[in-house]
Amino acid sequence: MLTENDVRVLQAERLLAEVVGFETDEVVRHALGSIVTTYRGTRFIDFTGGIAVHACGHGHPEIVAAIVEQAASVLHVSDIMRHTPQLELAHWIGDLLQKHHHGSDWQFQFMNSGSESIDTAAKLALKATGRKKFVAFEGAFHGRTLFASALSRSKYAHWDAYEEFLAPLRASIFHVNNIGGDGIPRLQDSMAALEELLEQEGSNIAAVFCEAQQGEGGYVPMTKEAGQRLSELTNQHGILLISDEIQSGFGRTGKWFAFEHLGIEPDMIVFGKAVGGGLPLAGVAAQRDLMERWKLGEHGTTFGGNPVSCAAGLAALRIIERDNLVSQASYHGEYIKQRLEPLIGHHGVVDVRGNGLMIGVELQTSDGLPDYLRVERVKIAARNQGLLFLTCGANIGKLDVDNSTIRLIPALNTHEEVINEGLRIFKEALEVD
Ligand SMILES: Cc1ncc(COP(=O)(O)O)c(C=O)c1O
Repeated sequence: MLTENDVRVLQAERLLAEVVGFETDEVVRHALGSIVTTYRGTRFIDFTGGIAVHACGHGHPEIVAAIVEQAASVLHVSDIMRHTPQLELAHWIGDLLQKHHHGSDWQFQFMNSGSESIDTAAKLALKATGRKKFVAFEGAFHGRTLFASALSRSKYAHWDAYEEFLAPLRASIFHVNNIGGDGIPRLQDSMAALEELLEQEGSNIAAVFCEAQQGEGGYVPMTKEAGQRLSELTNQHGILLISDEIQSGFGRTGKWFAFEHLGIEPDMIVFGKAVGGGLPLAGVAAQRDLMERWKLGEHGTTFGGNPVSCAAGLAALRIIERDNLVSQASYHGEYIKQRLEPLIGHHGVVDVRGNGLMIGVELQTSDGLPDYLRVERVKIAARNQGLLFLTCGANIGKLDVDNSTIRLIPALNTHEEVINEGLRIFKEALEVD
């Protein structure tokens, strides 16, 4: 085990690429439930959940036990042989979808990361439809592979550096544009633009990628009317509807999947984050008749859906179901929103939004502009008092104005007293100038 001094030396050597902006200079020593402690001895309440991964909190003992047990029996076989954790997980998610009346004949392609799974869904959509173009929404975030970056429009920095290379790819991707004057994409207003686009291009478009609640774009839920219209339009033009549930899936929004808030039935579901119980795991669910359009060898992975990640994921999903964490997310989400809504109109807070435990608190300047500078100051003030949270919010044009919304994504099973302690720190931090 490293000492605090060892850690200081390692940090000084600057081993890690600085392209990733860590939230703090501290080094984690221990993480359990919703509490993270560091080598310096700082205790943090974690409202980031490992970026919406830890539905059951850090280090849940049943997930850890499942990992240990699986690692001791089969660690990795790749696609040499099928293995029970992956089969059981596919069976479990298929059953869940069926139980909730989302169709009965799902097949699964497991991968390692959300971004890879977005590429996977796009490859399948190309094969299945024979069409060559895609639609995504302004403010979307679908990941960091080159295709997923081209599909994303939330953070300027995510794609600007690669713009020249991405330009030809972007020629095949339409972004339905509806950024409001405040920089926030209003998904409900995008449907008229989508309808117009599809009148011209409908027969060339393989799929529309949507987030029922945008993540990086500012925690903006789509309205039910917009979702219904989206579904009608894609059906009408024979376009596949792909729901990106990588962040919102498996209970986070107070339903198993965020698309359930809209009453729509996507053709493909892309999932990730929580599904691995803290280990890297993601994938695509599609009806068998779509998956069958792939010929042998047209897609694959070495590590995707590996036994240990699947065992961890299966343990996590069983805990979510057994402990009613989906309804708990809904209940705690409403509780947090009720506590925060009275702040609207104070300290620059203009909106408190989101479903379940995927809550955004948007700040604006007195001139009605996205106040990313204050958001940053509030985040630092909260961190100094022992609360970690992330930020989100779409860019506007070429301005570097990305993060004007505070995002709160605690574990679904966070205890009420920890939530209250976090909210107290958060409210005090909002008072910072
Ligand atoms: C909605 C959404 N899609 C895709 C991704 C990319 O997933 P990953 O980071 O696992 O590649 C993310 C990650 O934050 C996400 O929130």
